[in-house]
Amino acid sequence: MSDDPTAQSAPDTPAAQAASAAPQVPAQAELAAPQVAPVATIATLGQHDGQAVTLRGWLYNLRESGKLLFPIFRDGTGTIQGVAHVKSVPAEVFDALKGLTQESSVIVTGKVRADKRAPGGYELDVLDLQVVQRVPESDPYPITFKEHGVDFLMEHRHLWVRSPRQSAILRIRAEIMRAAAEYFDSNGFIRTDPPILTPAACEGTSTLFPVDYFGDPAYLTQSGQLYIEATALALGKVYSFGPTFRAEKSKTRRHLTEFWMIEPEVAYCDLDGLLELAENFLSHIIQSVLKNRASELQVIGRDLVKLQAIVPPFPRITYDDAVSLLNAAHKTGQLEQPFEYGNDFGSPDETWLSGQFDRPVMVHRYPANVKAFYMEPDPLNANLALCVDVLAPEGYGEIIGGSQRVSSYELLLSRIEQHQLPKEAFEWYLDLRRYGSVPHSGFGMGIERAVAWICGLDHVRETIPFARTLHRIYP
Ligand code: 4AD
Ligand code: MG
Repeated sequence: MSDDPTAQSAPDTPAAQAASAAPQVPAQAELAAPQVAPVATIATLGQHDGQAVTLRGWLYNLRESGKLLFPIFRDGTGTIQGVAHVKSVPAEVFDALKGLTQESSVIVTGKVRADKRAPGGYELDVLDLQVVQRVPESDPYPITFKEHGVDFLMEHRHLWVRSPRQSAILRIRAEIMRAAAEYFDSNGFIRTDPPILTPAACEGTSTLFPVDYFGDPAYLTQSGQLYIEATALALGKVYSFGPTFRAEKSKTRRHLTEFWMIEPEVAYCDLDGLLELAENFLSHIIQSVLKNRASELQVIGRDLVKLQAIVPPFPRITYDDAVSLLNAAHKTGQLEQPFEYGNDFGSPDETWLSGQFDRPVMVHRYPANVKAFYMEPDPLNANLALCVDVLAPEGYGEIIGGSQRVSSYELLLSRIEQHQLPKEAFEWYLDLRRYGSVPHSGFGMGIERAVAWICGLDHVRETIPFARTLHRIYP
């Protein structure tokens, strides 16, 4: 019996075809595990204590000590240390393992043995080993155990993702995306996918990626928001989840040119309702990661206490409160630059502010003129927008941006004109205010910013399999 659904793959799978195309790789039939030892994954070895299992993976590292070999195998679900004594394995197995090169692909059969000292709780007594592809000594795996610079690692990102730390981050990313969608799916939201090719800007005209659309100008989307406002007025509660693009010239640790955003939009929801949604949504994600990705959080050394603190309610402060805090921090020398009322917060301001709270802080009501054209003004002070930026703790800064949307036709039209946006391209958006306009609100969360915070990473480049930044589009 096997606990790996791919174990019984039919011989006509693409993998088998690829294997038969490459002469040095044995055919699928030869790769089949012996009947006695079921195919298992490293993550599920606990179910096989004391039994022989077959793992299909790669040699992550090898330590040799005379008659003893200590290979570390990885299979994508984790790593495990093996032990092979010259007397306990067939001579040809010992010889194949001895001197085996890093990242050679292997199918290994061994007996699972609980060991309290082992990082995952188990070790593998090697019984048999088959080398699927041996990495040649003449062209060794480029990422070794010495320190490599970030540029080198990013240049080899297609291989770097194999490292235990990077693959743990990608597993946590996948859980964040799963839990984010799950939150909306289980709370009455309908996923509606906005287009990626768009005729106009959503978030300012300075960061658009132009595309030649059969001779007409078009742009890669900066946000699905405008389109899901339409589907929210059709379906009530909706969300979108997809890639978004911004030609950001800034080279910061928080900016990518291509990133993933999840965006809810809700009809008949005001700013207060949106704040509640944001805090419940974020804490659901954190609780899911803590529950389902505990071993990955351990691999990357994340401080769990900091994440366990992320439960509602989150602090809410106005932009004005935030400015007072920043000015006080400047007076006591904690911030270099004084903050000028009326500006948007810079990175150092956000970093400092978000370091003051143990939960995400929701800063609301920014001056309308530093925010987007579609934001509803505060009825108590038209210079302020009914908007929110959620700043993650530990200095991570903005992870969510959202607002109540302008619902009046006349006001929206005048905003489009003020911002010198092409009216024709926004006629459909104005229709949403012509026909059954209602108060409605939504936000967007950048997945990579959320991953950076939850994993405690210095830079968003490690939060996505292949980062796109100002100076990088390879590999
Ligand atoms: O604050 P932003 O610009 O808001 C919007 O796009 C709204 N239309 C969303 C909405 O209300 N539906 O972007 C939302 C989030 C930010 O808080 C940040 O997490 C992320 O998207 N983000 C970026 N992430 C990585 N690289 C960039 N260049 C990003 N720009 C925004
Ligand atoms: Mg924003």
